[in-house]
Amino acid sequence: MNNDYSDKNPALTALYVEHIEVLAARHDHALEQAGASHAVIFSGNPRIAFLDDYQMPFKPNPHFVNWAPLTQLPFSYIVYTPGEMPVLIYFQPHDYWHVVPGAPDGYWSSQFDIRIVHTLDEVAKHLPADREKCIVIGEISDASLTFGIERVNPTTAINILHYARGMKTQYELANMRLASYRGATGHVAAEAAFRDGLSEFEIHRAYCKAVSHTDAELPYGNIIGLNEHGAVLHYTDLDRQVPTELRSFLIDAGAQVHGYASDITRTHSFGDQRFQDLIDRMDSMEQEIVSQVQVGVDYRDLHIGTHKLLADVLVDAELAHGDPDTLLETGVTSAFFPHGLGHLLGIQVHDVGGFMENESGTTIDPPSGHPFLRLTRILQEDMVLTIEPGLYVIDMLLENLRGTSAENHVNWSTVDWLRPFGGIRIEDNVRVLANGRENLTRDALAKATE
Ligand code: GLY
Ligand code: MN
Ligand code: MN
Repeated sequence: MNNDYSDKNPALTALYVEHIEVLAARHDHALEQAGASHAVIFSGNPRIAFLDDYQMPFKPNPHFVNWAPLTQLPFSYIVYTPGEMPVLIYFQPHDYWHVVPGAPDGYWSSQFDIRIVHTLDEVAKHLPADREKCIVIGEISDASLTFGIERVNPTTAINILHYARGMKTQYELANMRLASYRGATGHVAAEAAFRDGLSEFEIHRAYCKAVSHTDAELPYGNIIGLNEHGAVLHYTDLDRQVPTELRSFLIDAGAQVHGYASDITRTHSFGDQRFQDLIDRMDSMEQEIVSQVQVGVDYRDLHIGTHKLLADVLVDAELAHGDPDTLLETGVTSAFFPHGLGHLLGIQVHDVGGFMENESGTTIDPPSGHPFLRLTRILQEDMVLTIEPGLYVIDMLLENLRGTSAENHVNWSTVDWLRPFGGIRIEDNVRVLANGRENLTRDALAKATE
């Protein structure tokens, strides 16, 4: 695959045709089960700030992006009727305040019967006449946007589509490989900026420049933390000052291509060998967990297995002592690793359907004591998920161990040593195969550092 992120990338043309066939089959099934004949997928509308006329960055309906790589096309609709070419009602307003969407053109455009409209009133005539037989899929902030269709996001259809979205098509995988490579180039630039002694804010700018994304185009706000900031799980403050002493750097940053995301975390030591050794140990552990990913594995078991492996790391690093089961049961591993092992990835960074047991909407709870685990499914071929174990000094959580049976299992002086480094997280994006896996992140980082 070349590294052409544009919608003229010729490598995507044939894959996209197959993708549309898969989507059509999924929607045929969803419509049949919902007792409807047409799916009307609304792209969304920009939100306006309260008491203001300022538009928030537009976040499109992921169902719309699943059909077409049109992430910045508000007030547009796709109408899917089984057996027919999908209709794209392409909203191109007469607006001299903003740049309006250009003429439809890309690897995707030949797959649609495109109807360009300039006003919302024109949409109605392109919708199926029998509104009773339609369902709308999308966020509807104003009833007028449904043009008289009453069934909005029916659960039966939505469950079927969300369950299926767990499994990526070859087109989606190609985009996710591109997004991985794009993110990897940002990680290389960010590490260089860190080694040059730049601030979090400047490292962020180096990252955005390398991936050619504005902040709004990033799939999620970059987490760029120096030193202690690495322990704040969703740290997005971007300090403008360079700390007086540079010790560590945790970066959790992704990129997107045609609406598909990567979600990558790496941790770096500025020079301290003991901290580097701990990073290397976490990196080996992460790769051991990745090596267990394959069809049929229960992701909950991977999460619990990670806690046991982490217990060994904590013992080896002299952060704790005791056998793995005790460190798990007393809550020691959870205090150091308080988030889930990972999640499904796709159009959304935390992609839908992570708890679904089947397409009818039955869900699987996370294991007790692990409420933040976002993926509880049995792994199926072509799912893409993250594996992102962590180890942090979060005093709010560690202090909770005081006065419990866990307290004596923690080596508090080593915790004091680690605190100024914040923490460690290593996050890869992994595709599930029948007898193995594809590590999109490691492949991309290898290519980006060739
Ligand atoms: N970047 C958010 C996450 O790793 O889930
Ligand atoms: Mn992440
Ligand atoms: Mn993640």
